[in-house]
Amino acid sequence: MRGEYEAYWEWSVFWRSDQLQSCTAEAGQDTADSVAATWRVFFDTLPEAAHILDLATGNGVLAAQAADVSQSGAKRFEIHGVDAADIDPARFVPSVASKLDKVEFHPQTRLEHLPFMDREFDAVVSQYGIEYSDRSRSLAESIRVLKPGGQYRFLVHAADSVLAKRCALQHRQARTMLESGLFPAQERMLRHILVAENGNAPAEMAAAQQSIGEVGTLVAKLDADFAADEDRSLVDRVLAAVRGLPELRKHNDPGTLLDMADNVRTLLDAQSRRLNAMREAALSERQAHEMLAELKDLSGGDVQIEAATSGESEHRIGFWIAGEKRPERGLSPRREGTT
Ligand SMILES: C[S@@+](CC[C@H](N)C(=O)[O-])C[C@H]1O[C@@H](n2cnc3c(N)ncnc32)[C@H](O)[C@@H]1O
Repeated sequence: MRGEYEAYWEWSVFWRSDQLQSCTAEAGQDTADSVAATWRVFFDTLPEAAHILDLATGNGVLAAQAADVSQSGAKRFEIHGVDAADIDPARFVPSVASKLDKVEFHPQTRLEHLPFMDREFDAVVSQYGIEYSDRSRSLAESIRVLKPGGQYRFLVHAADSVLAKRCALQHRQARTMLESGLFPAQERMLRHILVAENGNAPAEMAAAQQSIGEVGTLVAKLDADFAADEDRSLVDRVLAAVRGLPELRKHNDPGTLLDMADNVRTLLDAQSRRLNAMREAALSERQAHEMLAELKDLSGGDVQIEAATSGESEHRIGFWIAGEKRPERGLSPRREGTT
């Protein structure tokens, strides 16, 4: 799997599994709704036929919202979404394909080298995306492709947010499970069971019993290690998959069963990498203000920062950073069309 999507494979895997979005959904419906309401107000203020660029679009949840506003207000927006991963949202999220079809997606496209001319867009947006990139370069690119007078608005992770805390916990859980020896033991167990069922020899049966015991002990230990954790959703999902695999041999041939086992480990590895990327991307108060200063310098216009909080609970979910490119500012110092 890795060879095919070498760069950003952990995200490519995620966006192929029928997920419209990553972080806002995980924060709860209440949060997803309040974030969506803020974006709706922003898109509503944009002029007719505005050109909009969604940075690190994933499966295009934000671009789809812009498409919604465009359609309901007859605004004829032209919307582009870029992402470094190998995305194809309309194909992988068929339930919203009619909205995603209105967006032009650019897979395997890094924010540090945007494939657009200078001053192409009326608005550049990002939801939990731009902070994952090389910030200085992608901020410069964002302002380069923005028209004078154009607007930008970014929702970025904060290091002290509820999302970042949950992410740190789940990252620790994922690493512990991956490094526990559970997955090699599971593979040994499945191979022993398959051999024993084929030959029914006492030695093979004994080996199968022993490996079943080994996996049982590891699962029980992990279960106990995470017993006091506030959030066990990831652990429960993975351990349930491991516990359920032997049963699946009744309906699958040995090769498929071993592939399924390997898939559980691969998906957990991908998740662990995504969680780590988010931990590294989340901004401290100081880094958020550095980003603000950089944007001010690049855009020549006003920039605002405010805490992003979740609907009712008022928990911190990140920073909103928004501003305008100074209207009278001429071309950016970079050459027109340079990537
Ligand atoms: C947390 S997801 C956010 C996706 C989407 N905006 C959403 O709200 O669901 C972060 C995305 O950033 C992308 N990404 C990370 N680094 C990038 C880079 N340098 N250039 C472009 N995309 C990048 C990843 O592939 C991933 O899809």
